[in-house]
Amino acid sequence: MRVATALVPAIAQLALLITNQDLSTLGAHSCLAHSYRGTYGAQSIFVADTDCYVSLSDNLDAGSIIPIPDAGQLVWLEHEAVDDAIRPAAFVDELDASLEQFADLSRPASGASSQQEVMDAQEPLVLLLHRTERSALIAVDSEDAAHALADHLPRFWKSTPIPSSPVPLTPVSLVARQRVQDILGSVKFDPIVASIVNNISVTYLQLDVRYLSGEDPSSPIISRNAFTEGALIAAEWLKDSMEETGASCELKQFREGWAPNVICSYPATENTTETVIISAHYDSRGSFGSTRAPGADDDGSGSVAILGIARTIARKGIAFRRNVQLCFFSGEEQGRVGSRAYARELRAANANITLVIQADMLAYHAPGEPPQLGLPDRIGTPEVAQLVANLSAIYSPELTVGFSPACCSDHQSFWTEGFPATQVFERAGPIADPMYHNDGDLSEREGYDFEQIKSIAKVQFAATLHTAGFDITE
Ligand SMILES: *[C@@H]1O[C@H](CO)[C@@H](O)[C@H](O)[C@H]1NC(C)=O
Ligand SMILES: *[C@@H]1O[C@H](CO)[C@@H](O)[C@H](O)[C@H]1NC(C)=O
Ligand SMILES: *[C@@H]1O[C@H](CO)[C@@H](O)[C@H](O)[C@H]1NC(C)=O
Ligand SMILES: *[C@@H]1O[C@H](CO)[C@@H](O)[C@H](O)[C@H]1NC(C)=O
Ligand SMILES: [Zn+2]
Repeated sequence: MRVATALVPAIAQLALLITNQDLSTLGAHSCLAHSYRGTYGAQSIFVADTDCYVSLSDNLDAGSIIPIPDAGQLVWLEHEAVDDAIRPAAFVDELDASLEQFADLSRPASGASSQQEVMDAQEPLVLLLHRTERSALIAVDSEDAAHALADHLPRFWKSTPIPSSPVPLTPVSLVARQRVQDILGSVKFDPIVASIVNNISVTYLQLDVRYLSGEDPSSPIISRNAFTEGALIAAEWLKDSMEETGASCELKQFREGWAPNVICSYPATENTTETVIISAHYDSRGSFGSTRAPGADDDGSGSVAILGIARTIARKGIAFRRNVQLCFFSGEEQGRVGSRAYARELRAANANITLVIQADMLAYHAPGEPPQLGLPDRIGTPEVAQLVANLSAIYSPELTVGFSPACCSDHQSFWTEGFPATQVFERAGPIADPMYHNDGDLSEREGYDFEQIKSIAKVQFAATLHTAGFDITE
């Protein structure tokens, strides 16, 4: 890669601040409050003019200020928290190699016809602006190039395009958090809820995941990468399967050329705007250079948990008192693109979202380990995580509950928009799945535990039943 910061002719007045300082203190400074570009792992990013930083230098106690080019698309790259057992030796070198490869790929083919194209071809196409051991900030030509990057990264690196304009710094309000706290305070074992959540069928979890992963010989799906035919087939199949159970679903296109979000709804029996969302992402990512992306764990497991909950809602004749949505997002692997569009749309409509629980990777734990439930240690609303933890103790006591540093699934899109949200994950620790982002992510393998999917799905379902309220109609 040409690391070409010095070659960029004009550094604009804009500079980027990366900091792990508390957002609530930083947001009090008006020039920062209108410069927020999101939180990435433990770091928050602001883009402001240099005068802003000068004016509050006394109040900035941590972080780096980095000059940035005035054109191009910024991308945050972060290494996932992975267990030592599967960590590649020199992951920083691995990133260098893949960025170099990416720069080559995005450079126009030789044989450029005009002098201008030859000139353009010599511009650096990947600009490294900042790096640490586990993260990097780069600039690429365009948003499309940023999205394409996801397919070319080593599997433990995640890329997230940084929005090109400021995003609102909308913390989850105290009122919204109190509402979850109130639900938590009222939760106690309910034998009817227990009999409902226990009715989730492991047989269907198996059949459904085999269809999505393509392990079922009758499935045409080879990949569910958001740009592939397989993702479109999966979206249609999820919609049809969900509608067979009585939900109303919509394929919501969020961007041309991408497979849509699948948004399924159950109307409330009471007159209320309150809405509970449980979700997963159905798109997948394979290994670089392979067309296979079965994603049986990531995130076939979360997707079939949601579908399994829907099948149980139908079997048990459940009608919810408040609105409930079951969502399957696309474009998670390119930086939560589908869920960001949906969460933004809900915020713009002043939607009344009580809580969101995203299921991402529910199946795997290392052989010999007990079944687990991991909650995010950084991104998310603590009250929702506590509700999940308490419901797990009540309805799935077989799970060992703890925190995970594995970070940042679609719940972050909702949390960013100020909606209470958390994630459920397969491990109370870092990622340990040796087939993570690999074309070997199948359901028939050691460590892939359908009972664990069911146990976690029970918790997600119990949270929905307790929060939305319900009646049994048959
Ligand atoms: C949630 O569980 C914890 C740990 O068991 C317990 O201390 C706490 O009282 C519970 N919260 C509520 C509101 O039940
Ligand atoms: C779910 O409940 C139905 C009856 O409502 C029963 O026939 C079925 O065996 C149950 N399945 C499980 C997995 O409990
Ligand atoms: C539902 O509630 C809203 C606001 O409280 C009220 O304006 C509306 O008339 C109610 N609709 C019905 C059908 O009761
Ligand atoms: C959401 O619903 C609750 C309970 O009905 C209500 O008190 C609150 O005003 C609603 N909020 C919005 C933003 O509609
Ligand atoms: Zn995932």
